[in-house]
Amino acid sequence: MLPPHGGKLINRFDPRQKNLDDMFSIAIDTDIRNDIENIADGIFSPLEGFVCQTDFESIVNQGRLSNGLPWTIPIVLDVDNETALKMKDAGEVSLVNNSEAFGVMSVEDTYQFDKLKVAKEIYQTVDLQHPGVMKTMNMNDVLVGGKIHVFSRIPFSQSRKLRKTPSETRNEILTRGWKSIVGFQTRNVPHVAHETLQKTALSLFDGLFINPLIGKKKMGDFKDEVILQTYETLLNSYYSSGSAMLVTLHTEMRYAGPKEAIHHAIMRKNFGCTHLIIGRDHAGVGDYYQPLAAQKIFNEYPDLDIEPVFFPAFYYCKKCRGYSSAKICPHNSEEREELSGTKMRKLVSSGTMPADHLMRPEVARVILSYTEPFVK
Ligand code: ADX
Repeated sequence: MLPPHGGKLINRFDPRQKNLDDMFSIAIDTDIRNDIENIADGIFSPLEGFVCQTDFESIVNQGRLSNGLPWTIPIVLDVDNETALKMKDAGEVSLVNNSEAFGVMSVEDTYQFDKLKVAKEIYQTVDLQHPGVMKTMNMNDVLVGGKIHVFSRIPFSQSRKLRKTPSETRNEILTRGWKSIVGFQTRNVPHVAHETLQKTALSLFDGLFINPLIGKKKMGDFKDEVILQTYETLLNSYYSSGSAMLVTLHTEMRYAGPKEAIHHAIMRKNFGCTHLIIGRDHAGVGDYYQPLAAQKIFNEYPDLDIEPVFFPAFYYCKKCRGYSSAKICPHNSEEREELSGTKMRKLVSSGTMPADHLMRPEVARVILSYTEPFVK
């Protein structure tokens, strides 16, 4: 099996609680707690905590950690000036979410950062309409780096029932006897183009690892529970049993296009995938990235180990009566029905049942059963 990124699966989870008496504590929101748990479980291997300044600058400037290992999205904790000073003073701080102390952080570094530069390098735009840029510009002014240790997990909820740690997915892959595993990242409900990508890839590899991203998304994206329920429905009705694993990944969508595609690949490598599907406008938003930008960036990362599987834009061709791409289909644009998450969102919000060749009726019925399937 492909080793984890950096060679070793990180484990910063230990249920033995430390003595927190008199320890300075900081409030952590649920999005950041998700990423702390991801660090603890090794989903972000080799990170053992929030990045310090040297790594941060290296990620922003080179798209690599300071030791040269590919890494494109800084995993950071931002606080205001006053909190940063207190944290530095304390050295070790307890992490509290919804009044529950769940972990500890050793403060190694506090530093200022250039938000505009981060926007330019990571998101390749400074336009505030871009959700990632907006988030960056609204961050607190100081970043705190240091290792974390988690002793209590995020409480169970329905949306977490399919969450697994890399050590669990790696064991499951071993048990299934899969040697080649192709991952699929998604933030959407499945349409038939998604299914075609997955099944085309599945015919070449031993197993498919479907890994929807559950967590903070922009307004208008599908809600987590809708994504989960539609995928469960699709798998029950249209996938041969044992061919696919459905596991959720709990982190924020960053909409960073190419840079996020590399980050997506690293996380799936840690889960045990050997390959990752990268299609049209992967992790994109609006028109900020060229449709194949998230594929081209892999040329800069020949040392990633996990291999991308590139697909061109798939559309439904009325003449071919199936999914095709400009590479293989000779018919002109009038015969094509383009398919995207945005188009599905539009159809569903008008209450229209999408045609069977665009979305499986079982999937469409799940979506239409929600009064509000979208993030508000
Ligand atoms: S993403 O933000 O997670 O990339 P989405 O869930 O829509 O969005 O896409 C999941 C994967 O399918 C991505 O790799 C994306 O590039 C690919 N994809 C989605 N629609 C198409 C399409 N019509 N043709 C080719 N690839 C597609």
